[in-house]
Amino acid sequence: EYADKFLNILDTFRPAVVLTGAGVSTASGIPDFRGPDGLYNRISPKIFELEFFLKNPDVYYSLAMRKIHDLRDVEPNTTHELLRLLEEQGFVNAIITQNIDGLHQKAGSMRVIELHGNANEFYCMNCRKYYSIAVVIDKVSKDSIPHCSCGGLIRPDIVFFGESLPESAVMHAQEASVNCNLFVVMGSSLVVFPAAGFPRVAVENGAYLLIINRGETGLDYLADMKFNCDLESFSKVVIEKLGQP
Ligand code: OAD
Repeated sequence: EYADKFLNILDTFRPAVVLTGAGVSTASGIPDFRGPDGLYNRISPKIFELEFFLKNPDVYYSLAMRKIHDLRDVEPNTTHELLRLLEEQGFVNAIITQNIDGLHQKAGSMRVIELHGNANEFYCMNCRKYYSIAVVIDKVSKDSIPHCSCGGLIRPDIVFFGESLPESAVMHAQEASVNCNLFVVMGSSLVVFPAAGFPRVAVENGAYLLIINRGETGLDYLADMKFNCDLESFSKVVIEKLGQP
């Protein structure tokens, strides 16, 4: 039984650093990228390339605004809840996330490192003024391309393919990975770098690597333990067991 194994591993090696991917948010209704119902079966990964965005901001905004950015009605699920509880109880000391949905924070997790930015934030490429999602939604409804009061193009504060990751996030993720005894991956295919490099950093520094993901990942061969399962049902069982004395 995975939940018992998980709690044993946590007890032995605590605290853990956790790397999360799109698979922790599918139960909240956000599609992942490369799973069977993934976004990339429907739209081209090109939409997340910087060059594409700069050439076709109108196409980006018409496709991405509703599906990617407007998360006002989206709620955290059982796995976000589990990670918050584990942090509160001292079992997890950092969450490194590739997700831009902000759901770990919405669930109450405090130590979240966002590698790929946040879908709720936007800024002007000319003067750097920040814009909230609500203002950008309003602007897009009036004009297909949102512009700043200075005339500059407003872009999302997310990492496009072709861009480097935010320096301080990378620094913190690196430090957390080097220093942990246990590194847990949840819901990521582990094929996008540099994010998928952190499990290796952890292993090279002596950590135990546990991967929890439905389906294969790019780093299964490196794992000390792999749980191939649905995270929602897994997390439910773990929370029940945590609640028992
Ligand atoms: P992927 O879509 O590549 O991988 C998500 C993994 O989660 C897949 O292997 C799914 O099978 C698994 N999964 C989905 N739902 C699950 C569930 N309920 N329980 C267990 N497993 C489940 O997503 P990421 O690895 O996060 O980057 O993708 C990494 C990056 O690629 C993203 O951050 C994004 C994307 O292009 C950028 O846009 C820069």
